[in-house]
Amino acid sequence: MYHVRLLKVPYIAPPPAKQQFTKKGPGANDGSSTKKFMIAATTTLTTELGEYYFYGTATVRASIFLKWEESVRRRKKHKLKKDESDKDVPVASGTWEWRPGMRALKMSLSLQTRAIRENSHEGRGPKFILRVEVVDDEHLVDENVLYEDEHGGPWKPRFLTIESMPFAIICADITQPLNAKVAFDREDALYVVRHAEIAGDDYTFCEEIGDSMAKHLWDSGLLLGDFLSASQDNKAVFVSQLLRDSRPLLRILELGCGCGTAGLILSRQFTASTVLLTDLESAADVCRLNIAVNPRQTSAHGTIEFSQFDWVLEHNTPTQLSRVTDTVWDVVVVCDCTYNTDSFDALTDVLLKTVDKKHGTRVVLVHKERHGSENRVFEMLKQKNALEVRWRQELGPSGMQARVDVLE
Ligand SMILES: C[S@@+](CC[C@H](N)C(=O)[O-])C[C@H]1O[C@@H](n2cnc3c(N)ncnc32)[C@H](O)[C@@H]1O
Repeated sequence: MYHVRLLKVPYIAPPPAKQQFTKKGPGANDGSSTKKFMIAATTTLTTELGEYYFYGTATVRASIFLKWEESVRRRKKHKLKKDESDKDVPVASGTWEWRPGMRALKMSLSLQTRAIRENSHEGRGPKFILRVEVVDDEHLVDENVLYEDEHGGPWKPRFLTIESMPFAIICADITQPLNAKVAFDREDALYVVRHAEIAGDDYTFCEEIGDSMAKHLWDSGLLLGDFLSASQDNKAVFVSQLLRDSRPLLRILELGCGCGTAGLILSRQFTASTVLLTDLESAADVCRLNIAVNPRQTSAHGTIEFSQFDWVLEHNTPTQLSRVTDTVWDVVVVCDCTYNTDSFDALTDVLLKTVDKKHGTRVVLVHKERHGSENRVFEMLKQKNALEVRWRQELGPSGMQARVDVLE
């Protein structure tokens, strides 16, 4: 999988010399209408761990959108009906070429100060977002051909579009765009947003900017999503593996949920379910944010919540421990948590506490094999937890070694 990443969130950059303070056109009188803010950002096209950069040619488009809630004045001015303008409004856009060998791409877009003046409302400036996407990714090929598709041809990479969180442009004097600042609502939590359609449902996944592993989207959850999206049959087979007869609510526990990708997908696939997403404290904010921005359908029964939980059992408070260990779970999900063999003891100990053999708890282990020693977890699950693989499905292109295993 390749990801568009934002290495630097939008910031104000100096405009190219020739664009500064040019006056022309109908707004020339007030001297400010043709002035521009230069909004810059740095992006990269990389794998989930950032260990490999896309080696091919791609067109990258960056666009600034006015958040639609902010465009009420514009709507009134142009007498647009609500449904016509009920979406983010593009106010600046540009494309750049990514070439083999590149590791980062700097982009800057000019935003007319007019976009701020015209959309300010009762002294409050408008909110914008920056979207970065790879255009026409159907025809992209990585020249190093990392993986093959099912016909033995080069696997077509798929890039998930990225968006910044909404930001305002703060400036004491709009005629001095260079002194402006980009301001986010919560400066302590600069997230980026990805939108994905999975098995007919729209998801919004927030992840943190930066290098912390826990708070990024990992491939396995997304590959599981791709598998479920591919056909109704895939979905039906997977659902039948987990669905327990005559249960009013499927009780699902996820260990090491990170951003919550897998648990969120399962909570939508199983509309009658109570899902408990767990991870260390460091993942709590991003996971709770993702729960909030992906509400369950109104017809759904059950809940989805986050609770802090460490696989090293003695690190938990009695309440944290009992939330996880006092329930009889139908399904325990572990997604992309087996890359570190040092954690296998703790992880399999947790499964001793959470898998009820008599009840028939099933473990769903989704992973992308990064080294052979990861398979030791299956030996341990057999010896320590008496769990055997009852269904296995390869995910993603050939050679990626991603798969989902259901164990009982
Ligand atoms: C590679 S991430 C995968 C995250 C998520 N499951 C996904 O697929 O996107 C591994 C996760 O395991 C969590 N983790 C690692 N050690 C842990 C521990 N001792 N207790 C609880 N979670 C742990 C990390 O915080 C991280 O979120």
